[in-house]
Amino acid sequence: MSDGENGHPKRRSQAWFGGHDRDGFLHRSWMKNSGLPDDAFDGRPVIGICNTFSEFTPCNAHFRGLVEHIKRGILDAGGTPLEFPVFSCGETLLRPTAMLFRNLAAMDTEEAIRANPMDGVVLMCGCDKTTPSLMMGAASCDLPTLVVSGGPMLNGRFKGRQLGSGTDVWKFSEDVRAGKMSIDDFLAAESGMHRSAGHCMTMGTASTMASMAESLGMALPGNAAFPAVDAHRNRLGRMSGRRIVEMVEEDLKPSKILTRKAFENAIRTNGAIGGSTNAVIHLLALARRVGVDMHLSDWDKLGHDVPCLVDLMPSGRFLMEDFCYAGGLPALMKQIEDLLHTDALTVNGHTVGENLADVECFDHEVIRKRDNPVNERGGIAVLKGNLAPDGAVLKPSAATAELMNHRGRAVVFESIEDFKARVDDPDLDIDETCVMVLKGAGPKGYPGMAEVGNMPLPTKILEKGVRDMVRVSDARMSGTAFGTVVLHVSPESAAGGPLALVENGDMIELDVDNRRLHLDVDDAELEARRKRWTAPPPAMDSGYQKLYFDHVQQADLGADLDFLGGCRGAAIPRENH
Ligand code: FES
Ligand code: MG
Repeated sequence: MSDGENGHPKRRSQAWFGGHDRDGFLHRSWMKNSGLPDDAFDGRPVIGICNTFSEFTPCNAHFRGLVEHIKRGILDAGGTPLEFPVFSCGETLLRPTAMLFRNLAAMDTEEAIRANPMDGVVLMCGCDKTTPSLMMGAASCDLPTLVVSGGPMLNGRFKGRQLGSGTDVWKFSEDVRAGKMSIDDFLAAESGMHRSAGHCMTMGTASTMASMAESLGMALPGNAAFPAVDAHRNRLGRMSGRRIVEMVEEDLKPSKILTRKAFENAIRTNGAIGGSTNAVIHLLALARRVGVDMHLSDWDKLGHDVPCLVDLMPSGRFLMEDFCYAGGLPALMKQIEDLLHTDALTVNGHTVGENLADVECFDHEVIRKRDNPVNERGGIAVLKGNLAPDGAVLKPSAATAELMNHRGRAVVFESIEDFKARVDDPDLDIDETCVMVLKGAGPKGYPGMAEVGNMPLPTKILEKGVRDMVRVSDARMSGTAFGTVVLHVSPESAAGGPLALVENGDMIELDVDNRRLHLDVDDAELEARRKRWTAPPPAMDSGYQKLYFDHVQQADLGADLDFLGGCRGAAIPRENH
């Protein structure tokens, strides 16, 4: 056994495995039941592999295969790999929304890392919430950490055309309601959209968060884009396994990587990829875990002038497979190198600038040159005003230019159920100039801040050929969705934000140029309405949902639980027997 200085075990894991006493016996002997040899415990780095595999999380369902490549890499480099499960936040099935459980999964990850004998950890991320939850939990421990994403699915295919995850579901379902697509074709497209292992292959939240992990420096270059079924994905897993062992030797921890500069790089990259609005919330939460002073306004300040260069759905035409063949995220970052902090450190031990030195782009249709952007402004617009005192967001690259400065009459829905019950009522008093307002969809209200902000348009408006209207809510929307949709209104209605006070017929002004969201109702009237307002109770009065309701912060702070901010480290806990 290799003891370090002062008689203390050199490695964290040796506090469990290093002793010749009763406790050392106990910690080693049970582990040997899986066939581990003596030298697995000889002081070599023990690497935890945090696996979000679940058959309820289709985007991560191939992780049992991928993890084997990570393990081989760890063994190649002389480490001991030990895989462990954490709560798998799957986007497609979890109700009321996977976001309700992001913080639970982050707690699970953090506590599992700290309580177990590991010296470093590989985070296996894929579906939307699995990336932020694992990064948040690991960041609060600050052991050497490396992200391996599961990779996107192959491009969807149906009747000779490409299909994008999510994006085309939203489109097709509107087409069916508008009478432009048959229900038979709609159901047949189901089998063409998702035809390989992996996560959504649009630039939705999963691809965005994989890109955020890479641009933050938390994953090896190339991590974001290799399809799940491409052999490069397995090779990347293997190389990541080798690298995490070196990172333990180098003591290269998230606190050295997740600096203010890294977050600024990620925000700029998000603009250039036309990334998901969900990244705003997740990165705000992550920054609070590592004590980086970052605010909602930083997204606008740093991102507003970044051109969207990646021509991927939902903002553009192509899909992640095309992005990969064009050179992936390194090729994109190369186009905006002048906007990045090239001295920021990444998990491979090199800086962003060093990683980009020899990078080429192989397809300037998919990854545009700076003088030919998909959209001049790829970043997130942060809006403020009396309707959103703490802010709201809108993604200009997914919105309709003519609607971004718009004044319209509010048509209010008190909940998503109210919306679904009335949206297609022929008597609903609405036309395409109205502003659809949804309440009760924020962190406390839903609970969990569901992706319902991109409310489908009323059928009678779709039938006129209209495909976009201004929508305002305290909800999120899927990263695969599009439209002139104002999201994340803070404070939310269930917390008594002014959104709660909007009534049918009020006029709402959206002015993206001036970053303004205004409810044209005078203060005295709003005060009178506030006196009549009563706060809704939590959905459950005990259990995790009660904890969440009592402690969740608003979207402008990242919607983490208020007691989870900061890094609590990974000091060795006291003995268990
Ligand atoms: Fe899992 Fe889109 S549903 S990544
Ligand atoms: Mg989603």
